[in-house]
Amino acid sequence: MSLPMSENQGAAIAASLRALWSPVLAITTCHGGVQNGQIAVAGLNASILSDAPRVLLELWKSNYTHDLVLASGMCALHLLPDGPAPALARSLDLVRRLGLRSGRAGPKLDGLAWQVGVTGAPILADALSAVELRIVRTLDADEATIFLADVVGGVALATGTPLTMRALRTAMPAADLAAWDAQNIEQRARARAMRGFA
Ligand SMILES: Cc1cc2nc3c(=O)[nH]c(=O)nc-3n(C[C@H](O)[C@H](O)[C@H](O)COP(=O)(O)O)c2cc1C
Repeated sequence: MSLPMSENQGAAIAASLRALWSPVLAITTCHGGVQNGQIAVAGLNASILSDAPRVLLELWKSNYTHDLVLASGMCALHLLPDGPAPALARSLDLVRRLGLRSGRAGPKLDGLAWQVGVTGAPILADALSAVELRIVRTLDADEATIFLADVVGGVALATGTPLTMRALRTAMPAADLAAWDAQNIEQRARARAMRGFA
């Protein structure tokens, strides 16, 4: 089913949904000795209990990280710094390495500083913070899987403000923006097919 709507309605819905994006997240995981990671903007605090915290994460099925998280049942979620300038440059590098190509094409964490967390997931040294997750439930969302996870560890790595999608798009070099937009076109085509749209 596709939603029939006017241009005005379409713009209003798009603006509302953009406001629901989370800060920019680096998601890492490890399965069968393979470490990988991706960028996501779909993470949410999922429990009222601060002593038993939970997170919801939405990962697209076409991503290699999705398959590794599903298989291993664990991952780490990182917030990335929006500044100062050297830290922002490292965030942009992480987005380029993790978010603009797939680990199916080759290792992505080579050359990055990281150590193994309590779940076995790589903890990225250039992040603002990391939270480690064990998946407790999944929901098949056609083109994505929604993961409900218990928080099983966490570490603060730096001080600062988390990078947002808006700030990322402002700071990203033009070549990376073009690569991101091209990737989005492909991801949307795959999502439409998985949803059964023509
Ligand atoms: C800014 C940005 C936001 C993204 N948001 C998401 C997201 O919310 N969920 C998702 O599954 N992929 C998202 N992606 C796409 C993945 O990060 C990207 O497809 C990545 O190359 C997947 O790598 P993998 O195949 O090694 O897992 C985003 C990418 C960028 C650059």
